[in-house]
Amino acid sequence: MSLHQRLRAATASAHQGLEDALDWRARVATRDGYRDLLARFHGFHAAYEPAIGDALADAAFWGPRRRLAALEADLAHLGMLEPDIAALPQPSGVTFADAAAAMGALYVLEGSTLGGQVIGRHIGALYGFADAGLVYYRAHGRQTGLMWNAFRARLDRLSSDAEAEAALASGTATFDALKVWLCAPDPSASHRVG
Ligand code: HEM
Repeated sequence: MSLHQRLRAATASAHQGLEDALDWRARVATRDGYRDLLARFHGFHAAYEPAIGDALADAAFWGPRRRLAALEADLAHLGMLEPDIAALPQPSGVTFADAAAAMGALYVLEGSTLGGQVIGRHIGALYGFADAGLVYYRAHGRQTGLMWNAFRARLDRLSSDAEAEAALASGTATFDALKVWLCAPDPSASHRVG
């Protein structure tokens, strides 16, 4: 099995658990609900993106995969002021020991662009958004397949047992942390970095 296949198998139940707990159709059914969901994602990306970027140390690969600016743009479109966006809560103490651990976390965030296409189309139809307000969920848009294939290829170049274990542990922990952050009543009180 490739490392990608191992990660997918190891996190399949976490994916289902997150989908169930998220109840995304209900969350995005009102503009306030959609804004709250984006605000939660903002906190998560604000904490995880710098840590992933530092550990990967590869701007060409990482740059197009950053999505914090997309969240800021969507939140502004939904009426949030810049100081309020900047003050949104975020998980603390997120770091990755090496690039393999960062790739495990990025597996979760990049994978979310796949199902995100379905969710984005739903939100676009609901609110009449084509671009503004939908930048985060549109994500890589028509490049989604290419970006995913390139991500998987890089993941599968991690070859040592230690790298594979680091990616698997980090991918699983990131799914768990994301579920808490998106679904807990008060995420900043309950987030634990594993
Ligand atoms: C923030 C929440 C989510 C995260 C972090 C997430 C993460 C992932 C990951 C990592 C994959 C890649 C699986 C693989 O290795 O092949 C994936 C695929 C997928 N996800 Fe999600 N997911 C999320 C929410 C959802 C939701 C709510 C749906 C339901 C619409 C969904 C539907 C899908 C689908 C259909 C695929 C497969 C796409 C394909 O193979 O072309 N996901 N997701």
